[in-house]
Amino acid sequence: MHETIVGVAELRARLAGRRGVGLVPTMGALHAGHKRLLEIARRENDFVVASIFVNPIQFDRKEDLDKYPRTMEEDLRVCDALGVDLVFAPSAADLYPREQLTFVESPTLSAHLCGAHRPGHFRGVATVVLKLFNIVQPERAYFGEKDAQQLAIIRRMVEDLNVPVVVRAVETVREPDGLALSSRNKLLTAEERRVASVLFEALQVALALIEKGERASDAIRRKAIGVIERRTQTRLEYFDITDPDTLTPVERIDGPVLIAGAMWLGTTRLIDNVTWRGTPGRSPAAGPKP
Ligand code: PAF
Repeated sequence: MHETIVGVAELRARLAGRRGVGLVPTMGALHAGHKRLLEIARRENDFVVASIFVNPIQFDRKEDLDKYPRTMEEDLRVCDALGVDLVFAPSAADLYPREQLTFVESPTLSAHLCGAHRPGHFRGVATVVLKLFNIVQPERAYFGEKDAQQLAIIRRMVEDLNVPVVVRAVETVREPDGLALSSRNKLLTAEERRVASVLFEALQVALALIEKGERASDAIRRKAIGVIERRTQTRLEYFDITDPDTLTPVERIDGPVLIAGAMWLGTTRLIDNVTWRGTPGRSPAAGPKP
């Protein structure tokens, strides 16, 4: 049976001197993607902490914060079933007792993809993640690849600020039709759910074109976006092909790329991505090797 702690001082006292801690930061509404993170953390660490905190400073729209799914009782059951040792579930007043005047900014990496459409979002994410790292002091922390930009920003924050934590990335878990698991999927109507996997389809179309040798990002984007726009219920936010580390758009593909998109279905925003691992060092002009 896990223990639940809400206060920062109490958590610090409980973890004092403990080594081999794995942290899985979450905003709750746990699904199979989170379960995968928790299972891997359980295998790799002596002591597993899951944090459950819907972080207000990473929401750019109040309506989005208000309707974010909250399923604490069920989340605690999931944590128990997966052998989590401790759940840290602070309130906003526990984590932000005074007005927050200090933030982690990553303007270059935040300028692209989701960051270009959600002002302040990644500043809120990086700030709360660094706070959690400082409070829990884990040896390892676990994040899903579905939030590729979040992962890139956290990795770079850890590197740039010499944070003593190993960031572990865990593959996206998908529904049978390819839809990436997300707490926001709970907000889709039955009709929206039926078309939601179109984002994954578009990513697969892009991937297949690259595999066939297409190297012009514009041509790939046009075809992939066409797949999404055929479904009139969708509203595309972006579909980009970028460098996986710097997240800057790539015009001609000559190495690994991150292909990422975001689209709206009604009032719900969905994101997804895939990485083409490429063949480093091969000239794109040379085409596929014989
Ligand atoms: O990915 C999430 O659920 C959140 O962005 C995180 C990392 C828990 C920070 O609030």
